[in-house]
Amino acid sequence: MVFMAQLALSSRDAARAEPRNKKFVPLPQVVPVRDDRTTTPETVSLGKQLFFDPRLSGDNAMSCASCHLPEKAWTDGLPQGKGNGGRELRRNTPTLLNVGFLSRLFWDGRAANLEEQALVPIQSCDEMNQNLDELEQELNAVPGYAAQFKTVFGSEATQAGIAQALAAFQRSLITEPAPFDRYLAGEKDALSYSAQRGFELFKGEADCARCHHGPLLSDERFYRLGASFGDAGLAAVSGNHDDKGKFRTPSLRNIAQTGPYMHDGSLATLTDVVTFYYRGVPTSTPDELPLDVQPLYGQSFSEISDLVSFLETLSGKAPEITPPDLP
Ligand code: HEC
Ligand code: HEC
Repeated sequence: MVFMAQLALSSRDAARAEPRNKKFVPLPQVVPVRDDRTTTPETVSLGKQLFFDPRLSGDNAMSCASCHLPEKAWTDGLPQGKGNGGRELRRNTPTLLNVGFLSRLFWDGRAANLEEQALVPIQSCDEMNQNLDELEQELNAVPGYAAQFKTVFGSEATQAGIAQALAAFQRSLITEPAPFDRYLAGEKDALSYSAQRGFELFKGEADCARCHHGPLLSDERFYRLGASFGDAGLAAVSGNHDDKGKFRTPSLRNIAQTGPYMHDGSLATLTDVVTFYYRGVPTSTPDELPLDVQPLYGQSFSEISDLVSFLETLSGKAPEITPPDLP
C-alpha cells in the first residue's frame, strides 16, 4: 500500500513537470484522405446503402447496422457483440463516430485503415459469414447497385469498391463540436465547475492524459490495464508475448453514449470505469507481465464524479442518419 502511494506520487510529480494543455485539440471536422474519389457524395451514398443492406451477409439477415446502430451512437449497447445466429462475440462493439480519424482499427489494431477493416466482418463466420466472390455477383445482379458502381468506380461491383464505399460512408460520421471543444476554444462556461475540476484531474493527478490526448483523446498506442485477462489482445497480432493483454487506447469522443466499456464490455458505466482506475486495477497479472497503470490509491474517491462529469462533456451531436432505401 505504501509502495503504491509512492508510485502515485511520483507519477503526479511527472504530471506537474510536463505541460499537458497542448495535448488537447478540438476535433477536426473533415477527415483527410489521399484519394478524392473516396469523398464524393455518390461514394458516401453508395457506402451508406451497403452499410444498411443485409444482403452483405451470407444469409441476408445481418447488416453492418445490425451491430452498429445509429440510435445507439453506432454501437449495439451490449457488453459483447452478437453475431451470425446470435453467436456471442468476444469483444465489445465500438462506436463508428469519428472512426475516420483513427490510424489503426479494432481493439487490437489489426486493421490499418477502414478499407482493410470493412471486409473482415463480412467474411467472418461469427459475424456476417459471406463469401466475397458471391457478394460481388449478388450486388452486380441488382441493377441499382450495378449502375452506382459504374458511376462511382467505372466498373462493376468489386471487393475493393465495396470496401472503399463503406469506408467513405464511415468517414462522414463526424460529430459536431462538443462542450469540451467549445471550452478549448475559450468558452469557459461550456464546462460545469465539476467538469472543469475533472479536466484538471484528467490532465494532472489522475494521469489519464498520459494515454488519452489528441483530438480523439487517444494516443492510439497499446497498453495492458488488466480489466480482464482472457483475450491475448495485441499479442495475437504481433506474435510478441510481451503484448499479451494490450489493447489500443480507445477514443473518448461521445463516450457517455457508448457503454458498456472496455474491450470485453466488462464495465457497465463511466463511474465503473473511473472507479476501476481508482481502486480496481489489479496489482499483478497471471503471466507476471507488468501493467501500464497503477491504482490511484493516493487519490480521493470524491474525484470520481468530477472525472465522470468531464467525460460527459466529450459528446458532440452526431450526424442524423436514417436507413436508406435499398436498390
Ligand atoms: C456481429 C456484429 C458486427 C457486425 C455485423 C459488424 N461489426 Fe463492426 N465491429 C463489431 C465488433 C465486436 C468490433 C470490435 C472487434 C475487434 O476489435 O476485434 C467491430 C469493429 C469495427 C470497426 C473498428 C472500430 C474501431 O474503433 O477500431 C469498424 C470500423 C467496424 N466495426 C465497421 C463495420 C462495418 C463497415 C461492418 C459491415 C461491413 C461491420 N462493422 C459489421 C461488431 C460488428
Ligand atoms: C496507460 C494508458 C492509459 C491511462 C493512463 C488511462 N487510460 Fe483509459 N484506457 C486505456 C486503454 C488501453 C483502454 C482500453 C482497455 C481495455 O479495453 O481493456 C482504456 C479505456 C478507457 C475507457 C473506456 C473506453 C471504451 O470505449 O470502452 C475510459 C472511459 C477511459 N479509459 C478513461 C480513462 C480515465 C478517466 C483515465 C484516468 C483516470 C484513464 N482512462 C487512464 C489507456 C489508458
